[in-house]
Amino acid sequence: MTYKIAVIGGDGIGPEVIRETIKVAQVVTSKYNLPMKIRQFPYGADHYLETGVTIPESVFSQWQTEYSAVLLGALGDPRVESNVHAEDILMGFRRKFDLYVNYRPVTLINKKYCPLKQVTDEKQVDFIVFRENTEDIYVNIGGCLKRGTTDEMAIENSVHTYKGVERILRAAFQYAKDTGRKSVVMGHKGNAMKNAGALWLRLFSEIGHQFPGIEKKSMYIDALCMDVIKNPASYSVIVTSNMFGDILTDVAAQVQGGIGLAASVNYHAADKKFLGVYEPVHGSAPDIAGKNIANPMASILSYYLMLQRMGFETEALVVYEAVAKALEQGHVTPDLGGKFSTSRVGDFICAKIEEARKWA
Ligand code: NAD
Ligand code: IPM
Ligand code: MN
Repeated sequence: MTYKIAVIGGDGIGPEVIRETIKVAQVVTSKYNLPMKIRQFPYGADHYLETGVTIPESVFSQWQTEYSAVLLGALGDPRVESNVHAEDILMGFRRKFDLYVNYRPVTLINKKYCPLKQVTDEKQVDFIVFRENTEDIYVNIGGCLKRGTTDEMAIENSVHTYKGVERILRAAFQYAKDTGRKSVVMGHKGNAMKNAGALWLRLFSEIGHQFPGIEKKSMYIDALCMDVIKNPASYSVIVTSNMFGDILTDVAAQVQGGIGLAASVNYHAADKKFLGVYEPVHGSAPDIAGKNIANPMASILSYYLMLQRMGFETEALVVYEAVAKALEQGHVTPDLGGKFSTSRVGDFICAKIEEARKWA
């Protein structure tokens, strides 16, 4: 079988980091003779402003069977104030393909990039955030009264369903069990969100009981954000709701060295054919776009997650080690204190992959 990958660079630094990721993917594909085909699509702000189309509806009726995965750069452009294209594309995939797991690993590849003085060993930062990806305030249910007046009232509903909460908790516990991780911590806000909090707490306890041997603990999300900085080593698997997970993973990105290193995948745990939408945690970074200085590693590491999920373990490891070499040798972009451009970092990683022993 051939793995067909659809690629959307998107906006801002998205196409810049995706360009390097495609270079890496081409080197890996030819070196290891991988059955993988990449096709690029232009969806993003430029395409929307030119055509009025954010993303064709056919993508959502066809890609889940036509493609094995999507690789995404980032979406968000100051020219599109409504952010409608990002909503249609990003949220489109998450909702319409029901990609309820947002898997965001927090791994320290090289300790010299960790800002925490108490971290003396890479092993002290190694946890996965399972972010619920289809509910909460992201459902776009709400409204506005008296817009533009001093009586304006805006309502954004936060939705949490039994099905939605149950399946993300189960995915987190199942992952912990399958990978030998010893604990699952749930981040919630049951002290303020009485209804949603009660559902999360009850199901956490019920599902946790089905996974004996895995320690479970619930924490208020605000305290959890604080503690991942203070005691990152005490976390192994964290599960939380959509918006809390969004914020927590930007916080945690700094613990792993910066947002330029944080990779992710959106997937449906039961889907074996469509393996997910892979994307860096960061956005389109308009402040540095077009300068060839964005760190491409988060995107390249998202491709690494893709290789892993496809079962190409050797190839995945080679990519990971090439990134680790770039970090070790200081071959990095300015966000990590380096002087190298996006493309030079990409070239360096490609060269390291070329040099790797074929079946190292
Ligand atoms: P951002 O992640 O784009 O940028 C935050 C800061 O981190 C900026 O200073 C930026 O320069 C820096 N940064 C981000 N990625 C970097 C990289 N690879 N290398 C070096 N520095 C990097 O977040 P923001 O500024 O809040 O949002 C900008 C736009 O991106 C908004 O439109 C937002 O909605 C969108 N966004 C999209 C996604 C996505 O597509 N998945 C994710 C987050 C934000
Ligand atoms: C992310 C982003 C998105 C989110 C935005 C762009 C809507 O911040 O993927 O982390 O909040 O999910
Ligand atoms: Mn985010």
